[in-house]
Amino acid sequence: MKRYDVTILGATGLVGQEFIKVLVERNFPMSNLRLLASDRSAGKRISVDHKEVEVREAVPEEFQGTEIVLVSGGNDVSRRFSPMAAQGGAVVVDNSSAFRMDPEVPLVVPEVNPEDIGRNKGIIANPNCSTIQMVVALYPLHKVNPIRRIVVDTYQSVSGAGLAAIEEMRTQARDVLDGRPARSQAFPYQIAFNLLPEIDVFLDSGYTKEEWKMIEETRKIMHAPEMAISATCVRVPVLVAHSEAVHVEFAHPMSPEEARQILSGAPGVKVVDDPSRRLYPQPWDAAGRDDVLVGRIRRDNSHPNGLAMWVVADNLRKGAALNAIQIAEEVARRGLVPTGGRR
Ligand SMILES: NC(=O)c1ccc[n+]([C@@H]2O[C@H](COP(=O)([O-])OP(=O)(O)OC[C@H]3O[C@@H](n4cnc5c(N)ncnc54)[C@H](OP(=O)(O)O)[C@@H]3O)[C@@H](O)[C@H]2O)c1
Repeated sequence: MKRYDVTILGATGLVGQEFIKVLVERNFPMSNLRLLASDRSAGKRISVDHKEVEVREAVPEEFQGTEIVLVSGGNDVSRRFSPMAAQGGAVVVDNSSAFRMDPEVPLVVPEVNPEDIGRNKGIIANPNCSTIQMVVALYPLHKVNPIRRIVVDTYQSVSGAGLAAIEEMRTQARDVLDGRPARSQAFPYQIAFNLLPEIDVFLDSGYTKEEWKMIEETRKIMHAPEMAISATCVRVPVLVAHSEAVHVEFAHPMSPEEARQILSGAPGVKVVDDPSRRLYPQPWDAAGRDDVLVGRIRRDNSHPNGLAMWVVADNLRKGAALNAIQIAEEVARRGLVPTGGRR
């Protein structure tokens, strides 16, 4: 079996660390693993499958000869290195939003649009974490009964904002409980014991960029440019796993029983839905798991063709590292990694 020279750019971050875990867990066929980050981390050693690997500063020479690059260093880092790595012959799977809406760049969730991988020109974008879990849950229903409209409210964990954000919430929680003022840097206001209806920047439309991403990325992934979508994205004081209240309007009525049956057989989905036993998805249960958990499936009383549901998934795994590695697996399976140099 072919083995690949793999590079993680952003290896010291939350998503980078999850990349390492998932690559090892899934036994991804690697001949070599390079770990890159900023100059601040150069020389650090990270354990990968019981072996120590040194982190190196991301500079152009470090990408020479690498075949698959997993990028989680943010937009600027991605704009700087992803096109260069792709031109050098690697396939880049990028977690940032830098290239997601570029018509030349496929935006992929393997359970939904794996065929889009085939038209990549070296960069494949990994969607926003909240978008991924929503489309994994909705696409199987959409195939049976076209979705006309989605209204989604998110409850996004602090890990979605990176390592520094987790530290900030931990410190704030201790400070607040001990009666000290909470200081905020990663977030605009205190996040401990609070909620912030602001993720990414505000746009002229009044939506935030995170909400815009959910709307536009869902349309691109599902090949549904006309789909009506509205989103409100909220940061909540949960460490890991994003939750979503999703209200869907279909072309025709769909019963909760039919939706449960379809989703029970859908890839990447686990139905956790039994109100009689108080069974419903929760972030602490989704954290560390691969599946998108779906529950509270019920008729939306406000529309004859409407369903409401509650969707929860680990934002670092399915929302980031796992989805990106599933893309890389699909690239490898289709033999799409150029060998021996430039594409
Ligand atoms: N967290 C999530 O749930 C999630 C989900 C989907 C997508 N994403 C996206 O994934 C990316 C990373 O997120 P994260 O949560 O892992 O953030 P993070 O914990 O803050 O980690 C950022 C990583 O980027 C590296 N980095 C920063 N500046 C760099 C530079 N100039 N050159 C090279 N490397 C640099 C950091 O290295 P140092 O340690 O050396 O600073 C670190 O490894 C972002 O684009 C984010 O939007 C995150």
